[in-house]
Amino acid sequence: MMDDIDRVLVGAEEIQTAVRRLGQEITRDYQGKEPYLVGILKGAVVFLSDLVRAIELPVALDFMAISSYGTSRQSTGIVKINSDLGQNIQGMDVIIVEDIVDTGLTLAYLKDLLHVREPRSLATCTLLNKPSRRKLEVHLDYVGIEIPNEFVVGYGLDYGEKYRNLPDICVLRERVYANA
Ligand code: IMP
Ligand code: MG
Repeated sequence: MMDDIDRVLVGAEEIQTAVRRLGQEITRDYQGKEPYLVGILKGAVVFLSDLVRAIELPVALDFMAISSYGTSRQSTGIVKINSDLGQNIQGMDVIIVEDIVDTGLTLAYLKDLLHVREPRSLATCTLLNKPSRRKLEVHLDYVGIEIPNEFVVGYGLDYGEKYRNLPDICVLRERVYANA
């Protein structure tokens, strides 16, 4: 697996610094509330598990499993819900937790989908942001790290379901894609 990595783009320490900051921002903004964190499977799992431990408030966790149609490096914004939330979110303070926002299509779709269920508030939190690739403007309340237009893996992010367990966020060697 290490042979496939070209370089580390964001190291584990820088990730943890960003996660702690996001946890502090959420703690500050949700005083007196109990945020309902919705992690988008599978990519956001690693981030979410660190993020909740950086939030000093009572929180509830839930998950939504989705798959977006398209090739493994390019989403189309057509999202299929494979597994929905475990409960009704009406009146809740919901925060959608994503690993990365690229074109914005997936998050825009999810926001619309959850908005109609009438949460009291609906915020978005992403570890990584690739603003240069945006196709749809979507408001991001909490952003960890802005990255350039590169496909990345690690810390939950995958290429063909691999590399999610890398502790750093990395760029793969070109030959990995060439062999696909
Ligand atoms: P969007 O709809 O283009 O914003 O893409 C969002 C989803 O595509 C993310 O939740 C990821 O699952 C996937 N994705 C986008 N960019 C990357 C990347 O650089 N590495 C791994 N997955 C990515
Ligand atoms: Mg993915």
